Formats: sequence, C-alpha cells, structure tokens
Amino acid sequence: WILMVTAQSPTNIAVIKYWGKRDETLILPINDSISVTLDPDHLCTTTTVAVSPKFEKDQMWLNGKEISLAGGRFQSCLREIRSRGTDYEDQEKGISIKKQDWEKLNVHIASFNNFPTAAGLASSAAGFACLVYSLAKLMNVKEDQGQLSAIARQAHLTLQGSGSACRSLYGGFVKWAMGNDPNGSDSIAIQLATEAHWDELVIIIAVVSSRQKETSSTSGMRESVETSPLLHHRAKEVVPKCIVQMEEAIRNRDFPSFAKLACVDSNQFHACCLDTSPPIFYMNDTSHKIISCVEKWNRAEGTPQVAYTFDAGPNAVLIAKNRQVATLLLQKLLFYFPPASETDLSRYKLLRLCF
Ligand code: DP6
Repeated sequence: WILMVTAQSPTNIAVIKYWGKRDETLILPINDSISVTLDPDHLCTTTTVAVSPKFEKDQMWLNGKEISLAGGRFQSCLREIRSRGTDYEDQEKGISIKKQDWEKLNVHIASFNNFPTAAGLASSAAGFACLVYSLAKLMNVKEDQGQLSAIARQAHLTLQGSGSACRSLYGGFVKWAMGNDPNGSDSIAIQLATEAHWDELVIIIAVVSSRQKETSSTSGMRESVETSPLLHHRAKEVVPKCIVQMEEAIRNRDFPSFAKLACVDSNQFHACCLDTSPPIFYMNDTSHKIISCVEKWNRAEGTPQVAYTFDAGPNAVLIAKNRQVATLLLQKLLFYFPPASETDLSRYKLLRLCF
C-alpha cells in the first residue's frame, strides 16, 4: 500500500519585515513581522508526500530533480513531525499504522513551484510551509496550525531555508509574533485577518532581475545582527510601534497608513543592510527608480495609491489600493520600465490576494 497527501502553499510578502535572529538554531526573530499571503494560483508550491513499506529510504524531488536530504535541519523537522504522528487506520485499504510506526516508515516527497525559483520570489517560504503541512497531515498530527508554524519555522533545508515560512500557513494578513520564551514555544504565526477582509488590494511583482541574490537572507541577517547598530534600534524602538499601527491599518482597511508603514519599513530594512559591515546591497538602480516613481505618483495624488516593498533582492513588490490603480500602475511600469520585447510581459506578475 501507499498513503499519500498533497498540499498547496502560497508564498507571503512581508510589509513589516523580519530581519535578524536572536537564536539561529531555533530560528527565533528579533522582532515581530507582518505579511500578506499571495494568491496560490500565482505563486505557490505543491507538495506531495507519501509513505509505503516499500520505500527504502527518505527521498525528495524538487521540480522533478532529486535533492539531497543530508541537511541536519530537514532531518530534525522530519523527526519532529514523526514524533507527533498518531495512529492511522483505513480498513477499506487495509492500512493500519500505529503511532510508533511513523519512525520506521520512509517518506517520499515531490515538490513543484509554479514560478521560477531563480527569480528569488520568496520561493522557500512557500516550500517549507507546504512540506510541514503535508507531512503533518500524512502522519495524522493533531497539533494546531500555530504549533505547526513553529515546526515550519525550523524546517531549514541546506539549500533553501526560511523562518518566514511560518507565515505561509495562513491566508490573508499574518503576524509572526517573535515571542519571549527562549525555547521558542510562543514564536508563532497568527492570522490577523482573512483574505476576504481586504480583497480590493492588487499586488504586482516587477521582476527587476532574475539573478540569484548574492547574499542569502540567512547570512545577510546574521551579518546585520553582528554589525548594524541601526538594526538593533529598529528591532527595539521602531518595529514594536509599527506593528501596532500596521495591525490597526489592516483592521480599518486604511490604505494611506498601510502604504506609508510598508514603504518606510522596507526602506529601513534596506538602510539596515547598508548599515551592515561590509554593506549589503539588495536593491539596484531599477529598484531605486521604481521607488522614486511611486513616491512621485503618491505625492502628486495627495494620498498614497501604491505601496512598495523589497525583500532581500531587487524585485519590487507593488501593492495597489484597487484594480483601477493597478491598471494604471501596470501602464506606468510598462512605459518607464519596458520589458525586453513588446510581447514579453513576464517581468510583471499581476497577483491578487487570495480570495
Ligand atoms: C527580507 O525567512 O528567508 O524576506 O529565516 O534565515 O531563512 P531565514 O530567512 P528568510 O528571511 C526573509 C527576510 C525578508 C523579510 C521577511 O520575509 O519578513
């Protein structure tokens, strides 16, 4: 027999960023963060996990290519889930698995991204959330989503890892509470609002460069924690206030406040990267031009129409306040930042929030 579970997980984009860990092993952040989960039709990972007594070893394929599972963090994630597995019975198929059997059964994992991994569009966040969720379902784990998010947070593979993965376990607007417990038990994702709460927002991702970033988030944030005084000021003094204001802006669907907070936060995060020694440059000239263009437009309108935010790379995530604005934005982008050919719209991905 073979027992199989398939799960789909979207990626998320932070509007108040996570940058810096207070514990690298447990992946505990130095500040709370807030993200929006993207529409799974556009950016998502689909993962199928299976167990069978016939499987001789744990194996995983990413976009059809087998990858090594040697990474200690992946193994520890698998161990965590196996230890939480409960009895499973399917009389029709003649399957009976006892709690302790999960430790002995090997798993096969096949994961696909529906977007280019190389574009650096937060692909790992989707991957881990999906992996943890599908393994937990397969092994009949009874823990709630909050506790699963704690496992997703630690589900680092050696090739891609992501603490921010824990936010992808929910749709809509999600907060990753940093928590205080040294063992990480209260560092979990919480849904602030569902996708239906604010569904006028439209997200456009401008792929400025599909080159893989030079400094990974993991090493970038480690260097910032070690050398940037601005980062510590941000985590202690700035983010706690912004989190409260951002929660309120989301609750009230207050776009001007939402946009202001998101843009300021993105700029401060990149300022912390510049304040790191040696400095880390994630944005390029095109990213800066996009920022100027949005800032000018927002000023001319007298009230923000579009918010921008940049993760650890040059690609712009633009959030328009509604469809009309998104259409105008796309026109502006195509005019000022034309793609290589007229028919090539691939650099702009139009994404709506899940709804
Ligand atoms: C800039 O979650 O990729 O996207 O936990 O080290 O794997 P690790 O980092 P990761 O970092 C994400 C950083 C960010 C901001 C965010 O998503 O909050």
